[in-house]
Amino acid sequence: MKYAHIIGWGSFLPDRVLTNDDIAQIVDTSDEWIYARTGIRQRRIAGEAETTATLAFEASARALAVADVHPSQVDLIIVATSTPEYIFPSTASRVQDYLGAVRAGAFDLAAACSGFVYALNMAAQAIATGSVRTAIVVGAETMSRVLDWTDRSTCILFGDGAGAVVLKGSSVPGGILASTMRSDGSGGNLLRLPAVYHNPVPTLGPEYLGNGQDRNTIAMNGRQIFRFASHVVHASIQDVIKKADLDLQDVDLIIPHQANIRIIDHVAKKLKLPKEKFYVNVERTGNTSAASIPIALCDAVEAGRLRPDNNIVFVGFGGGLTWASAAVKWDVTPPEVSLLDREWKRTRYIMARGRSRLRRWGRRMGATLGGSPTPDARLRDADKKPEE
Ligand code: UT7
Repeated sequence: MKYAHIIGWGSFLPDRVLTNDDIAQIVDTSDEWIYARTGIRQRRIAGEAETTATLAFEASARALAVADVHPSQVDLIIVATSTPEYIFPSTASRVQDYLGAVRAGAFDLAAACSGFVYALNMAAQAIATGSVRTAIVVGAETMSRVLDWTDRSTCILFGDGAGAVVLKGSSVPGGILASTMRSDGSGGNLLRLPAVYHNPVPTLGPEYLGNGQDRNTIAMNGRQIFRFASHVVHASIQDVIKKADLDLQDVDLIIPHQANIRIIDHVAKKLKLPKEKFYVNVERTGNTSAASIPIALCDAVEAGRLRPDNNIVFVGFGGGLTWASAAVKWDVTPPEVSLLDREWKRTRYIMARGRSRLRRWGRRMGATLGGSPTPDARLRDADKKPEE
């Protein structure tokens, strides 16, 4: 039996800050209303050149630098996202390419705001079976691109960013101790984001249409989602703790999906735990969907909230409906790496992007010289577009 330990972590937030006051210039709202109802003061918004893949890459490079793992040692990359630029290539494949993780398999996972916990579980299971030794699990989103900026009930909530962890198999017990994953598709219409080629025929039922949603933007029934979260989150935490053979009192820190401070306070009350047991950074980031838990994890490490041998719980919930928890023993002390060394490693990973460009160029040259209608030649035009 192999245990999947977290040995590296990293996050990346775009530079641009959008405050509640800024949003009040766009829709009829106020800092007071947003802060009182959600606990959010500001969120980050991706710049023009930033995509879900570039944010995911930056977070992954940081996580690899902490873990002191070279990209070529990575076997699997999973990116949990609801805002991929493409259905394929997957965001994970792009991260694999940017990193130069030449031996890794890569795929995206869609479970909305629960996606990171689902992905962590999938990677941990792959490690437990021995099929994978080292994996990167990422949550990354550019929610700003799928918001209806005229809808004040949703556009105030979300932000952009990415967080990643490196998981490594070990025979030492610990790491990801247990996990639970649940879904209730009957509530799918309560929070939804149509796919690019959304069929206007209501194949899933008329409730999936309407609400003025004629573009691919998020629509949400906030009150119902609030109610759903209030019902399932505390139970999910209790389930996973039981599975891990722990008591609530053994848990040192709970890192919940950062959707709304009122949901987190409600869960704390239900579990009769002090609020301090929950890590909260929603004030600074807004709701970054699948990215929120790994970003909060990195902030918690930075804030000195985690010590070796701590028991922590991640809990996510959101569209699907989906919800999921993981109990984790925070037990692997990362290798001593100086700041300079870490920055140098990160730079080296970034340089791998240069190698990737060279490979694209080589593929194009080969196709041009060979002049044959090979798949490489067909890829030529697609290769030109995104980041060249
Ligand atoms: O990550 C996925 C999970 N998502 C969530 O967890 C979201 C869960 N839901 C929520 O966080 C809350 O439902 C919201 C923050 C979205 C909304 O808070 P609420 O307390 O449920 O407000 P509400 O929807 O019941 O609306 C109350 C009032 C309404 O006015 P009337 O009808 O009472 O006159 C809204 O029109 O607040 C109004 N309102 C706003 N006013 C100022 C709604 N949005 C805004 C706004 N600024 N941005």
